[in-house]
Amino acid sequence: MFRESIDRQLWREREVSPVAAWRGRLRYELRHRLPVSIGSRTVIDYPGRLEFRNGGHLRIGIGSFGLTTVRDETVIRIRPGARFVVDGQVNLHRGSRIVVDAGELVIGHQTMVNGFTKILVATGVTIGSGCNISWNVQILDTDFHAVHVDGEPQPHTAPIVIGDHVWIGTNSLVLKGVTVGDGAVVAAGSVVTKDVPASTLVAGVPAKPVRTIEHWQ
Ligand SMILES: CC(C)(COP(=O)(O)OP(=O)(O)OC[C@H]1O[C@@H](n2cnc3c(N)ncnc32)[C@H](O)[C@@H]1OP(=O)(O)O)[C@@H](O)C(=O)NCCC(=O)NCCS
Repeated sequence: MFRESIDRQLWREREVSPVAAWRGRLRYELRHRLPVSIGSRTVIDYPGRLEFRNGGHLRIGIGSFGLTTVRDETVIRIRPGARFVVDGQVNLHRGSRIVVDAGELVIGHQTMVNGFTKILVATGVTIGSGCNISWNVQILDTDFHAVHVDGEPQPHTAPIVIGDHVWIGTNSLVLKGVTVGDGAVVAAGSVVTKDVPASTLVAGVPAKPVRTIEHWQ
């Protein structure tokens, strides 16, 4: 729901113009009857393929994020037969790009996807609750092209599962088939090609465990 308190907060912070807020409200909440709040330029193709669970509410381009302006467009593209499940209150910052070509993307409660991050889904990406996905991260569950070895195409698509309360540092890449355990931290600029155990800091290219951690905040 686009509640009045959200409108007031956004206008006070000069994060959204009244016109943009009302356009967002009209386009999505009233016209499509969807719990989507929009504070900056956004393309959703196609809103009917969004699914909301557990009080799901998608907030797009709302709140301060110093690297972007209200002109940075967020794009959500969900192809026929695919879906994006908003499992609780989910925040996407300005300029993020989400493309679900097939399968399902699930993002959990109070997870934040920061500006300019890209999530590309060909089979399945699940992101748990309370995660912080930094800016300029890429999460790809497909290589898009198959590498041939001994005349055989190698598998190039596999689901990604990111647990609860995971922090993925800026400019990191999370590649196909990886599971990142609860409470893990991926250091900036890492390329995650293998599973990350829970409560573990990984870093580097390819990302390797650095140490176990108790908590991050
Ligand atoms: C994850 C992070 C917070 C860990 O910081 P830290 O606990 O102080 O870690 P340290 O600096 O002690 O590093 C531990 C080891 O990992 C290595 N390391 C840390 N970050 C690394 C990185 N991004 N890439 C490669 N190696 C890295 C260090 O060189 C060090 O190696 P050594 O033990 O051989 O000397 C930090 O590395 C990081 O990535 N910060 C940026 C986070 C970010 O993206 N923020 C954006 C806002 S969401």
